[in-house]
Formats: sequence, structure tokens, C-alpha cells
Amino acid sequence: MSKTLLLLPGDGIGPEVCTEVRKIAVALTNDLIIDEKIYGGASYDAHGTPLTDDALQAALTSHAVLMGAVGGPQWASVPRHLRPEAGLLTLRKEMDVYANLRPALCFDALADASSLKREIVAGLDIVIVRELTGGVYFGQPRGIETLPDGQRRGFDTQVYTTSEIERVARVAFELARGRRNKVTSAEKSNVMESGVLWREVVTDLHRRDYADVELEHMLADNAAMQLVRRPTQFDVLVTDNLFGDILSDAAAQLTGSLGMLPSAALGSAGKPGLYEPIHGSAPDIAGQGVANPLAAILSFEMALRWSLGQAETADRLHAAVVKALEGGARTRDIGGTLTTAQMGDAVLRALN
Ligand code: IPM
Ligand code: MG
Repeated sequence: MSKTLLLLPGDGIGPEVCTEVRKIAVALTNDLIIDEKIYGGASYDAHGTPLTDDALQAALTSHAVLMGAVGGPQWASVPRHLRPEAGLLTLRKEMDVYANLRPALCFDALADASSLKREIVAGLDIVIVRELTGGVYFGQPRGIETLPDGQRRGFDTQVYTTSEIERVARVAFELARGRRNKVTSAEKSNVMESGVLWREVVTDLHRRDYADVELEHMLADNAAMQLVRRPTQFDVLVTDNLFGDILSDAAAQLTGSLGMLPSAALGSAGKPGLYEPIHGSAPDIAGQGVANPLAAILSFEMALRWSLGQAETADRLHAAVVKALEGGARTRDIGGTLTTAQMGDAVLRALN
């Protein structure tokens, strides 16, 4: 049965990198149906909302959704619930993609592009599993209120239930079994109640179902430090929505460029996954055709693997990216001069 990939190019460099994904998807697969919808700030400008019902329905009924990027300075004064980022959060929530896999893989050809020494990052292959549909991103109450004395007070709520913690931890343990069999769970149980619960639930689940996997607990601030001190000590790092947001940016830089890192957000089995490059819309270089499309291309690789049932094609694509890099293909962010389209072409050539 043919499967459907929905492209949501979005804003900034999103459309540019999605064009390369489309090129590669067409060359690599023969029965993939590729659909596309306007999304993010572009959708706000056209329809007054960052995520139309039409785009949401298309996402919920496809097999995989690949988005480019959302946001940009031109939407900074739009009311929060209509901001491009709100469209992304709604999409994650509605698709119920609670487990966000953010691999940080250091391609050997790029070990010198990292701001850390080669010996620290060489061979790096870790995955951050970020809880994506709970925590302080969605907790209620939240708001900004005015106090009787005229001051204003801004507040958010960090909240996790047992089942929210357990289901994402389960993904981390399952993933570790197919890798180096180690899970590090990061929270702030020294100061946060939700962190105490997080640690308890992960410990219980481990004892019940995953005693064969090595489990380590780490405070999130220490995890940040360990990530830049000796990142190769990690295999799978599972953490909440906010810590995962922060730690995954740090992990991304270890590999040399944010322009290299893909991600997969997964929900229950059989539901569509949401694939996003980790980089943002990069308004400073948008429209210039110089963005690195590899994060988006590698996100498509993850879609092939996790949602489209084409693991072998995913392996082929991964090998082509490695080959292109080894052949010297470099966009500006990783020390070269190739344009976005030329990098896409380099991967295409390596495929053939
Ligand atoms: C990410 C981004 C998003 C997040 C923004 C754009 C809402 O930083 O995917 O890491 O905070 O989750
Ligand atoms: Mg982020």
C-alpha cells in the first residue's frame, strides 16, 4: 500500500530545505504520495492561523509529516496563540507525538567542525529522547497577571503524570536495547516535585520491565555539563520537555552544526510521526539558498525508518549522506561553499 508524506515547509529556510527533501524522496521511492500544506507564519499571513484545520487533518491522516521550520521576527508581535510556534505546539499535541528522538551523531568527516576538540566528539552517537507533549510547555495554569500593587507576575506550571513519564521512558528503554543498552534519565529531583516523580516512575519501570538495560539518573544541570565534558558517556538520554529542548541544542552543537541534526517525534504505534530538522527558520540566511538541507534530509531518513516502513531505503540514504560528506560536500555552516540545491544534488549523486 502506498504511503503518504505530508510536507509542511513553513517559514524561513524551511521551504528551501524541504525542496531538497522532495527531490530526494522522488528519486528514492516509487509509491510515496507527497502532499504539501502551508504552515507556520506563512499560514498565518495567508489564513490568519499558523495551522489550518485542513493542514491538521492532512497531518493526522498521513503516515509521516515532515516540517521545515517555523517562526521569524516578522511574527514577533502576533498574539501568542497565533504565533507560528503555537502552530507547532498544537501540531505536536494533536498528533500526540510524545517521544521526540533527537540523535546527535558526529559524522567523522565533520569532527573538526565542532567547537569542541576532535577527541571529545569523534565517534559520538547519542540520542536524546525528549518528552514532547507535556511539562511546562503545556501545563496549566499559565499566564501573566497584574498584582494589587501594580507589579506583574508571569507564571507557568511544570506538571507530569505517571503515564506521561512512563510512556516516554519506555521508548527510551526500547531504543537503548537496540543500541548500547544504556539509559540516562535527567531531571531536577533535588528541587522539583515533578522531578521526584519522574525519577520514581523511571526507576519502577526499569525494575519491572527493563532490568537488563543499564539505568543511570542524573540531575539535568549535571547532564548539561557532562554533555560538553565527555558526551560519549551517553547512549540514550531521556528527559522532560524543557530540559530536552535545552540539552538537545547543546548536543547539536557537539556535532558541528545545528544544520546537521534531524529529529523524529513519535506517538503510539501505527500513528503518524512528525519529523523536523532541529534547526530553526534561520531568518538571517533565509531566501539566500545557502542553508544546509542535511538535517531535513536526515529527518526524511528517520521518517523512512520509523513511519514509512522502509528501513533499507533509509540505510541507503544515510550512506549517501556519509559519502557526500566524505567527498567534501559542504554548505557554509560546515565550512564549505555549496548552495542548498548543490548539497541536495551531492546526496542524489551519492545515491546513484
Ligand atoms: C525545538 C524548538 C521549539 C521548542 C520552538 C520553536 C517552539 O526550540 O523544537 O527545539 O521549543 O520545542
Ligand atoms: Mg529548541
